[in-house]
Amino acid sequence: MLVLGLETSCDETAAAIVARQSDGSGIILANIVLSQHALHQPYGGVVPEIAARAHVEALDGLIKEACVACGRRLSALDAVAATAGPGLIGGLLVGAMSGKALASVLGKPFLAINHLEGHALTPRLTDGLAFPYLLLLVSGGHTQILLVEGVGAYRRLATTIDDALGEAFDKTAKLLGLPAPGGPAVEHAALRGQPARFTLPRPMLGRAEPYFSFSGLKTAVRIEAERHAPLDRGDIADLCASFQAAILDVLSDRLNQAIDTLRRQNRLPEVLAVAGGVAANRAIAGRLTELANENGLRLIVPPPALCTDNGAMIAWAGAERLTIGQQDGLASPTRARWPLDPEAESAPWAGAKA
Ligand code: KG4
Ligand code: ZN
Repeated sequence: MLVLGLETSCDETAAAIVARQSDGSGIILANIVLSQHALHQPYGGVVPEIAARAHVEALDGLIKEACVACGRRLSALDAVAATAGPGLIGGLLVGAMSGKALASVLGKPFLAINHLEGHALTPRLTDGLAFPYLLLLVSGGHTQILLVEGVGAYRRLATTIDDALGEAFDKTAKLLGLPAPGGPAVEHAALRGQPARFTLPRPMLGRAEPYFSFSGLKTAVRIEAERHAPLDRGDIADLCASFQAAILDVLSDRLNQAIDTLRRQNRLPEVLAVAGGVAANRAIAGRLTELANENGLRLIVPPPALCTDNGAMIAWAGAERLTIGQQDGLASPTRARWPLDPEAESAPWAGAKA
């Protein structure tokens, strides 16, 4: 089964072709990602209108590139999948419309994919993981612990009540004058820093409620940065290392809490997986390795290029859905908001981000 996947929900334009074998394994035949970071850099954040226009300009070229990269014609495809939400609506419309047009011309099924489902199913593409598994999903817009029970069956166990983890990295980078995307910049600077130099808060540590919170941590970094201004390279490295140390403690604590709850309920899976852009962080992977060992779990961390946004995860989610007989009509909507677990209660004070 050959599926084209299109991703345009934020500031990466991506097209990929993935094959799903009859034994259920996946092979990435082409995976082209074009970052718009340079376009948004002058504005200090992603400008939705600029993003949508850049997707329009790039997407058909990327689809062609993907075909050329693996020597397949569009007519060889079995389906076309595109991210239909959640994300910036202009970009989503570009990707979904392109996908629908292609599917309709080719006479093949179209699949409207939830971007978070693309992240959530990535460990099955990279490692052939069986259901169920525990998933830490950490991206620029979401921070959740999920029990992944099947395709389309996601139980949300924890979520953030304010900023997403990637957003906390990005805002911290910005206030320290580091370039976008902030996550890799903070991770890199932290390598040279002293994690014990600044005492930063560990929001939600030890709390029974299944929530994350990062906005206070980001504010604490800002206060320390202002107190020590002007910052030299060493200060910035120490702040990044101290920030990342706080993040590691919070992630371990929240995951341990979810694991303990599942263990008490006899529902703890054997595998912990991590997905989303922040999962590309090596320090986080290191701490999760310790946590998995302590809890007798197997840890799956996809390669960095499949943690950050890409088309392969969308193609794969499409292949997974098509395999169980699903497809979407050409009238299917694009959705700026689209929770993975529709039954999860909205978190207190969480606004649009839960
Ligand atoms: O999944 P993703 O590519 O896009 C969204 O769905 O949001 O995640 C992007 C986020 C950004 O906030 C970026 O700074 C963060 O992932 N990120 C990282 C790293 N690489 C990307 N955060 C921490 N460490 C990294 N190495
Ligand atoms: Zn993403």
